[in-house]
Formats: sequence, C-alpha cells, structure tokens
Amino acid sequence: MTELSKTGAAVGEPTPASPSDAFLEVRDLKVHFPTDDGIVKSVDGLSFSLEKGKTLSIVGESGSGKSVTSLAIMGLHRLGARGKNVQMSGEIWLGGKELVSASPDEVRRLRGREMAMIFQDPLSAMHPYYKVGDQIVEAYRVHHNVSKKVARTRAIEMLDRVGIPEPAKRVDGYPHEFSGGMRQRAMIAMALVNNPELLIADEPTTALDVTVQAQILDLIRDLQKEFGSAVILITHDLGVVAEIADDVLVMYGGRCVERGPVDEIFEKPQHPYTWGLLGSMPRIDRETSDRLIPVKGQPPSLINVPSGCAFHPRCPYADLPKGNVTRTVRPELQQVDGGHWSACHLSPEDRTRIWTEEIAPKL
Ligand SMILES: Nc1ncnc2c1ncn2[C@@H]1O[C@H](COP(=O)(O)OP(=O)(O)O)[C@@H](O)[C@H]1O
Ligand code: SF4
Ligand SMILES: [Mg+2]
Repeated sequence: MTELSKTGAAVGEPTPASPSDAFLEVRDLKVHFPTDDGIVKSVDGLSFSLEKGKTLSIVGESGSGKSVTSLAIMGLHRLGARGKNVQMSGEIWLGGKELVSASPDEVRRLRGREMAMIFQDPLSAMHPYYKVGDQIVEAYRVHHNVSKKVARTRAIEMLDRVGIPEPAKRVDGYPHEFSGGMRQRAMIAMALVNNPELLIADEPTTALDVTVQAQILDLIRDLQKEFGSAVILITHDLGVVAEIADDVLVMYGGRCVERGPVDEIFEKPQHPYTWGLLGSMPRIDRETSDRLIPVKGQPPSLINVPSGCAFHPRCPYADLPKGNVTRTVRPELQQVDGGHWSACHLSPEDRTRIWTEEIAPKL
C-alpha cells in the first residue's frame, strides 16, 4: 500500500521500482479470462515501466499476451462478449493516474489524448462506412472544443504529415478507397491527431510490404521525436527492434522472461527463450534467413501453464539447474545488471558459457 500512495502523486515521481521519469508503469498486471475450458491467464504478473521519448519493444510468439497487455493499458480488453467477465488486477500508472481501478469513463477520457493505439488491421480502428476525414475530425473533437472546420483543417494537416498525397482530397475518401499502406497511415494520423503521450503500435506493419513498412516505422520515429511520446512497439521483426527500440521486453506465456536495454538483449541475452527467438525470428539486417530455426515445440497453454519455469518443456537446458528446480519453482526476474533482468534458474556462469560458446557463434 505504501508503494501505491507513493506512486499516486505527481507524474514521474520516483518509485522504488522505476526510474524517475517513468510515464507508464505497469505493476504485477494480471488479465485473466474465465472460459468454459478454464481460466485463460493471458497476462499473469507483468511489470515494466517506460519513460517519455523512449521506445519499448515487446516481443514473443503469438499468444504470449502482447495484445492483451496493450488492450488492458488502453482499457479496451473489456469490449466484446469475450471480455465481459475479465478478471484484472495489478496497477497501470499512466502520467500519475492509476487505470486498473479507474472507471471506464475515466479511461475513455484518456484515450486519444494521453494514449492511443495503432493496430495491425486499420479497419479495427476505423469504421468502414464513414469518411476517413470525418473519423479523424471526430477523434480530434472528443478532446478539443473546436468547430468542425478547424478540426477538418487539422485532419488534412495530419494526413499530410503521415505522407498521404493530396490530403485535401483524400480527407473525403472512405477507408476502402485507400490502399493497405495508405489506410495504415490514415489510422496513424487518427491515432496521433491528439499528440498522445503514449503510443502503442501492435504489429503495425506486419501486413504491409517491406518498403511501406520502413516508411511507417520512420514515421512513428519522427513523430515520436517531435512530440516526445513514449512508444510501445510490438513486432515480430527483430531487425526493427534493433533499429528503433531503446528497451526490449520478452514475453512468454503471459509473463516477462527477460527485459533490458536493446544492446544487452542482442549482445548478451540471458534467457534460453530469448536465444531461441534470436535464432528464429526474421531480421531484415541478416542474409541467412534460410538458416533460421524455429523454437522447438508449442507455446504453452495459458489455462494449464507448465509448472516451475513455463518454458521447461521446450528448454534444451532444463536439466542443467540443480535438482528439479526448473520444473517445480517458477523463476522470478533477477537483475543481470543495470536495467537488464532475466527469469531463469541457470547460473550466470552457465548462461554466459552457453551464450558465448554455443548460441552466439551460430547466429
Ligand atoms: N477475450 C478473450 N477471452 C479468452 N482468451 C483470450 C481473450 N483475448 C485473448 N485471449 C487469449 O489470450 C492469449 C494471449 O493473446 P494475445 O495477447 O492476443 O497474444 P499475442 O501475444 O499474440 O498478441 C491467447 O491465448 C488468446 O487466445
Ligand atoms: S529456468 Fe530452466 S527451463 Fe526455464 S529457461 Fe531457465 S534453464 Fe530453461
Ligand atoms: Mg497480438
């Protein structure tokens, strides 16, 4: 409770577990969905923090809880029939406000202006039957008491900013009249129209071709520089991560297994799952893509999560830590150094040896 009252004060006030500039702080977040088959523990005790002007990349296989984390921050996980009975606990501090205990109305007021999200599929954020410009105008007027005319000028300006040609004309187009890349840009324009302080981009370029991907990532980076926003970027592409992330958080089975500054994660990763990802994920900066090996086995069930370390059924090193610890005791995150944390029972010596002698030479 003391922590709670401490963080309840002004934005950026130092907290025991975070740097002083944290704009977003997630603490022990749990998002569980009761279903007929059992409780799906989509996010199960996740903590991280993010400063303004910084980019955090969240990586991990499909189904590891990345989108549910984003939706929970945005307060969108309750939408739709399946989200009705969601059980959520923990804390999400955004600019000094706690969102888990906030009312849906309070969270709605923050959406757009303090936080915005871009999705893989722009049509999940834009209505197909309304003109693109009108949707941006509405998004702007929710937070600004201005005339439609003023808001329309702002919409055109935003379409221009995101590189849509002839914005004064396209503002009156419908989403289906835009190509995939242009629609993605229009959605970004809508997400950024209120200069959100936190932008969450959930696989924003997965569906696009490589050239458009690069342009859109440049755009996010430029806009971030200009507005000093905090960005969470969820992507499968480690090349992109290497290029634009400041920090990386590796998720497995709804939990963080490793997190740290981007250089540390690439140069001395400490978790066997991260090693697997580095070996398996496509990277635009590497030519040997035909030699990539996927992480063996299947992602864990989030209803019956494996005991001990959830990665143990797939981990080649599960028998190395002494006794049966890997199968019985869940490893907690331990500090490697600085902001680098890893949750694995391997000794630091074993991790260093395996990484430098067995893994790194093959990458
Ligand atoms: N509303 C829901 N009800 C039940 N399970 C859900 C719901 N939303 C997501 N899940 C489950 O939570 C897990 C994590 O999903 P998600 O966060 O979308 O993964 P990803 O890392 O691929 O973005 C998946 O197993 C998914 O099926
Ligand atoms: S705790 Fe054991 S099973 Fe889990 S990643 Fe480390 S070595 Fe592998
Ligand atoms: Mg997802």
